[in-house]
Formats: sequence, structure tokens, C-alpha cells
Amino acid sequence: MTVDVLLGLQWGDEGKGKIVDVLSAGYDLIARFQGGPNAGHTLEFDGKKFVLNTIPSGIFFDNTMNLIGNGVVIDPITLKKELDKLKDAGHDLLAKGNLMIAKKAHLILPTHQLLDAANEKKMGDGKIGSTLKGIGPTYMDKTGRNGLRVGDITLPDFKERYEKLVAKHTSMLTSLYGDVVDFSEREAAFFEAIELIKQFQLVDSEHLVNDYLKQGKKVLAEGAQGAMLDIDFGSYPFVTSSNTTTAGACTGLGIAPSKIGEVIGIFKAYCTRVGGGPFPTELDNELGEELRQLGHEFGATTGRPRRTGWIDLPALKYAIMLNGVTQLVMTKADVLSGFEKIYACTHYNYQGETIDYMPYDICTIKPEPVLTEIEGWHEDITGIKELSEIPAKLQSYMDFLEQQLGVPVKYLSVGPDRVQTLVMH
Ligand code: GDP
Ligand code: IMO
Ligand code: MG
Repeated sequence: MTVDVLLGLQWGDEGKGKIVDVLSAGYDLIARFQGGPNAGHTLEFDGKKFVLNTIPSGIFFDNTMNLIGNGVVIDPITLKKELDKLKDAGHDLLAKGNLMIAKKAHLILPTHQLLDAANEKKMGDGKIGSTLKGIGPTYMDKTGRNGLRVGDITLPDFKERYEKLVAKHTSMLTSLYGDVVDFSEREAAFFEAIELIKQFQLVDSEHLVNDYLKQGKKVLAEGAQGAMLDIDFGSYPFVTSSNTTTAGACTGLGIAPSKIGEVIGIFKAYCTRVGGGPFPTELDNELGEELRQLGHEFGATTGRPRRTGWIDLPALKYAIMLNGVTQLVMTKADVLSGFEKIYACTHYNYQGETIDYMPYDICTIKPEPVLTEIEGWHEDITGIKELSEIPAKLQSYMDFLEQQLGVPVKYLSVGPDRVQTLVMH
């Protein structure tokens, strides 16, 4: 058996949570492999809405297990909040026993968040626009070989290890940024949450996932963020601190590249980005505001308004190449219903040339999008159930995208609810 991977092809918020939920019933295990509570994955069904930050989106199916993999960074406080909220809504994951946590996943400390905030403040206008969840500083400690891992919480000297790392952080905060705000309340909440985490199954995710495969079980790896936020290939430095691409599923779960099966790439029918950094097709105008309102484009984690723009095919092609995408999912087609014309960026004008790839330096030299006009459709598609109900002009848009991208669109999402999903082929 192989591991299928579902991941975002744009700048995040493509609808990963919704589609993982839709696909979960067909899998034995859903595993998050990177990122942390910077993610906000929204699921809607039976009139209820859930936003998951750290917890995989497969928790609502009885026969599906869930794993927070070693590549994830975990904020115990946020995780406890997520678990408490789910419990209040009737989903007690501890009682259900459907969530496992990798011992090798790294912990976000309260001081990692202080460092994140101090860093961003110091950068002023050039700031990344981080979610301020402590992601960057935690991955820095991981690669700097200073980090604390989930498996450490059961060690007798965990408190001392914690204090040693905190001492390093407070001296950095004092010397680099001048002050350390009081974090005693968050520290107390951190240790309270650690006690809750201890009650979950803490596992060696690499053995677990490979055992699942040996037993012929089906595994889906759930990406967070999107390809254009990848630490190596995204719009650096306006990226997150992990590999959001398929390769990240290998290191973030402990599986060999030869064990990757289908790669399901998800994109919106248009494009959004939250935080700073280049966005070639951005509509920084009334039209962009209209898209924001119609698509409810406000961050699931931070509530920040998302920047909006037309679909960017050079960026999508790049993401498809990097990830080895075998199937596409298009979401939010319903948001475009009613636009007389829509547009797709097929090329960029860049330093006097027309190019169809993502150039190295999009942060200081802005690529100008070359747009193709596409006839819009007017029908409300949020209730359609059959392929025959897809408006002809939407079908033409999808045919155009498939032809441009060279990969079939397997699923079409026409609304936020689980049932608003069509299988295309
Ligand atoms: P994720 O981070 O990729 O899981 O995406 P988010 O949850 O941050 O953002 C996607 C938003 O779009 C959520 O509010 C979803 O409920 C919503 N959504 C997902 N698919 C569709 C769709 O096809 N149509 C509409 N209108 N909303 C969708
Ligand atoms: P999901 O999984 C959209 C963005 C932040 C910022 C940059 C770095 O819901 O798609 P970080 O907190 O990682 O240091 O922020 O990355 N970002 C996201 N944007 N969706 C996300 O996750 C994101 N996670 C981080 O806005 O620009
Ligand atoms: Mg999101």
C-alpha cells in the first residue's frame, strides 16, 4: 500500500480541511505531517462548523484513526483548546481513542510565541505577517537542535529541559528585543495542557504509518498551508517554516518516497493569500473586495482579511511539478457564479519578457500577470448534485484549466458543506 497525500497548491486556505473530511471515510488513517496551529482547516456538515488547527480532519468518522505526525509543531495550549471545544460539541477524542500524537513532534513553548511576535515587530513594514503562533522560532529550535519534543514530556527532567530552553529564549528576548513580557499565565496553561497530552497515545509515527501500510490499510497525509508557502520553494522569505510539499510528507511521517501514491492537489477557482509577500494576480480594488465578501475570505485562524485575486496558472503549474500532483480538486467555484467575466493568469510579463514560470525573485521584481478572459456563469451551483447540472461555462473553465495544467480535476467543490462536492471522473 502507499500513502496518498492531499495538499494545497496556492498560498493556503484552499479548502483542505473540507476535502480531507469528505475523503476520510475511505481511509484508515489521516495524518498531519507539517505545520502547526498556524493552520485553520474548516469543516462543515449537518449544519455544524468546526475549525481545526492541529488535529487532522479525519476525526469525524468512526473507523478512521488520526495522527499528528513528527513533522508537526504542537502548541499544547491550542491543542487543549481544540480538544475541549470538540468535547463540548460531543466529540471526546480521548474517550474515542481516535487521535495519536508522534513522540518526535516538536513543542511550541509560550516563549516561542513571544519570539515570533518580537521578530515580526522588529521587521516593521517588511514583516512576514506571521500568524504569531510561534511556528518559525519552534522550527528554528528544531533545526538548531535545541527543541523539546512530545516524547520528552514523560521524562523525569522535562521541567528542567523546559526551563533551560526558556532561559535561552528570555536571554534572546532581552538582548535582541529589549524586554520579556510576563508569560506566567500561559506557562501555567502550557503545563496543564501537557498533562492532557500525556493521556493520549504517544507513538513512533514512522513505525505506525509503515505498519499500517504493511497491513494493507489506507493512509491519507493532510497538508497544511500551501505550496507557495513552502520554506524552500515558496515566495521566500514570505513563507512558513516547513516543507508544505509532498516531500514534507516523507520527512513529516517517516515514509519513503517510493511509498507515495496519489497526490491530490487542491486549489481555489481564484486565489487568496493572507499575510505579507508577493501575489502577482492580486486584485487590490473593489473587485477584490467583492471576491473577499462573496467568498468569506477571512482567516480561519486569525480572522484577518485575506487578499484576493485571479487564478495564477504559472504558480499552479509550479506547485503541480513540485508535488507530483496526480489529481486536482477545485473549490469555491460557487463564489464566481454571477461574474460576467473571470480571468486566468497564463503568463507573466517580467523584466521585458513574457514567461510562464515562477521567476526566482518575485519579492523585489513584481511579475505583471498576463490575463486570459473567460466567460462567467450565472447559475447558482451550490445545490447541484449531478455532473449534468454543471453550467456549460463552468465546464469550459475546468476544461481550460485541465488543458493548461495537464492534470484531471477529480473533485469539484461547490460550497463549504461536506455534501457540496462532486466527483468528476
Ligand atoms: P484550509 O486551510 O485549506 O482547510 O481552508 P480554510 O478552512 O482555511 O478556508 C477555506 C474556506 O472555504 C472555509 O471557510 C471553508 O468552509 C470554505 N469552503 C471550502 N470549500 C468551499 C467551496 O467549495 N465553496 C465555498 N463557498 N466555500 C468553501
Ligand atoms: P492553512 O493550513 C494561509 C501564512 C501566514 C504568513 C506566513 C507565515 O489554513 O492553509 P507562520 O505563522 O507560518 O509563521 O506565517 O504563512 N500562513 C498561512 N496562510 N493558510 C495557512 O494555513 C497559513 N499558515 C501560515 O499568514 O503569511
Ligand atoms: Mg486555512
